[in-house]
Amino acid sequence: MDRKVVLTGDRPTGKLHIGHYVGSLANRVKLQNQDKYDMYVMIADLQALTDNARNPEKVRKSVLNVALDYLSIGLNPNKTTIYVQSQIPALSELNMYFSNLVTVSRLERNPTVKAEIKQKGFGHSIPAGFLTYPISQAADITAFKANLIPVGDDQKPMIEQTREIVKSFNNTYGEILVEPEGIFPPKGQGRIPGLDGNAKMSKSLGNTIYLSDDEDTLRTKVMSIYTDPNHIHKEDPGKIEGNIVFTYLDIFGKNKDKINNLKEYYQHGGLGDVEIKNYLFEVINEVLEPIRKKRKEYEMNPDFVYKMLEEGSRRANKVADETLQEVKKAMGINYFK
Ligand code: TRP
Repeated sequence: MDRKVVLTGDRPTGKLHIGHYVGSLANRVKLQNQDKYDMYVMIADLQALTDNARNPEKVRKSVLNVALDYLSIGLNPNKTTIYVQSQIPALSELNMYFSNLVTVSRLERNPTVKAEIKQKGFGHSIPAGFLTYPISQAADITAFKANLIPVGDDQKPMIEQTREIVKSFNNTYGEILVEPEGIFPPKGQGRIPGLDGNAKMSKSLGNTIYLSDDEDTLRTKVMSIYTDPNHIHKEDPGKIEGNIVFTYLDIFGKNKDKINNLKEYYQHGGLGDVEIKNYLFEVINEVLEPIRKKRKEYEMNPDFVYKMLEEGSRRANKVADETLQEVKKAMGINYFK
């Protein structure tokens, strides 16, 4: 029986943060450790370049950082093929063929791309590669005939568009490609708010906790978290809704009874912000400590990390090339053999 293929990846534009962790990294480690899937995790440097063409050094550095993050959270290169998108030429070739099956207006309607164009302030100067990155993502997924794609909620439109491309390709050239399904985070954890209460945790907003933050940085960041602006004196009754300390406790805390008691106490009055923040620090630190430790080990050995990526890219190339050959045959452009 054929094993299902799980495939996913991240754009390397910095280090990964706890939002990525709850959004999809945790899911990936879980899937890996079920030992029943063929797992591929890709560092999407081509995609990162679509809006960083003039800053390749940032992307280059981030490739190593993301690889370190992957190893630190427990992705195991013996179980999961970890590779670099730009090192797989078949992906760019498939991208070219798929481009002819997608209209510009369909790309302009992709809600995530639309939101990103606004957020990045491209105005009328949208790089063509950026607008078309959903096509390249369809190549990433179909090259491995991936069935399951564990990603954050913001990636739903990419899966949707990939499915459309697969249908269109298969209708036109024959049933070669596989329609993927997304695996999304548990309800309510798809998007974790930033330290400042902003709905989104993101590097550009400076409101993140990185998986690699050391204890002091973590403590400082936790102390800065947005709580209830009207909870001035410890004795005042405090609000839980919109209070990011409790939002994070709900996501990361294991001791639900304790958290419920703290909530009651806080709402009643008498519990200070520093006390709940101290507890939150402990809770998040417990998650980050083992990740941080592992990262330290790998950080000292970048050669090992690059070797691992090289080996992963070699394996990935074999699979992607096979699909590419099938695709070219189906399209009738395999002239010479
Ligand atoms: N779009 C993803 C991001 O924004 C990265 C990515 C590229 C990806 N190709 C993929 C995710 C294929 C899943 C499957 O980080």
